[in-house]
Amino acid sequence: MLRFFKSKKHKVENKEIEIDRNNIPKHIAIIMDGNGRWAKEKKLPRTMGHRAGVESIRRIIKESHVLGIKYLTLYAFSTENWKRPKDEVGALMKLLVEYLRNEIGELNANGVVIKILGDTTKLADDCQKEIKDAVELTKDNKGVVVNIAFNYGGRDEILRAVKAVSKDVEKGIINLDDITDDIFESYLYTKGTPDPDLIIRPSGEKRISNFLLWQCAYSEFWYSNVNWPDFKEKDLHRAIYDYQNRDRRFGGV
Ligand code: IPE
Ligand code: IPE
Ligand code: MG
Repeated sequence: MLRFFKSKKHKVENKEIEIDRNNIPKHIAIIMDGNGRWAKEKKLPRTMGHRAGVESIRRIIKESHVLGIKYLTLYAFSTENWKRPKDEVGALMKLLVEYLRNEIGELNANGVVIKILGDTTKLADDCQKEIKDAVELTKDNKGVVVNIAFNYGGRDEILRAVKAVSKDVEKGIINLDDITDDIFESYLYTKGTPDPDLIIRPSGEKRISNFLLWQCAYSEFWYSNVNWPDFKEKDLHRAIYDYQNRDRRFGGV
């Protein structure tokens, strides 16, 4: 069935650039932005932009597999996106349900692990069920881990972690002085996931918009003017290529 990952002869170099296969970022996170502007340019409703964005998700998951990226985090709905008109919020929820329903078989067949970052308890029941099933079905897979950040906010994540840690201190499960970076991280949605090496934001905006605030401490940032529905494999290659030509110092020399 549906082996969209079958591409042994896949070339990672395009005309101008050649990616170093030995230095692929382990974790790439993407702020999937610009769906609305893409639709506006085409005189389509914003929801059509979101729909077109799903095609980019397909492309980029597939390409991540081909390139050997271990973790791919996709920012799909922020804790602030509830401010949008009700019908747009509804359309985004529906799109997530549809996406999981339609794609989970193929994703599973290709070893993808689906995880969700964010507070799913605020989502509609059918949405929660689809998420639960997708996570359960794929949890033992060995391929690309795809984290879908949905109703995710970096501040919300940190606050929750602070509360949970405080509770455990109160109960005597851990001592205040024993709280380290590692311990704290184990209370975040991203527990067990390495920090993103590279954060990509298409659409021309240059801000973090409450994404992975704790985890981005030493991430490399890469921006592009392309809107998310137009984001192609070659854009991912360019981002990785630029990443590979940077000097990550982590505070050292
Ligand atoms: C990103 O596209 C998708 C979500 C935030 C859910 P936008 O909908 O933000 O697109 P623009 O920024 O309005 O173009
Ligand atoms: C960030 O995009 C959230 C997602 C892509 C899911 P927004 O479009 O919501 O961010 P702002 O409002 O431009 O900062
Ligand atoms: Mg936007």
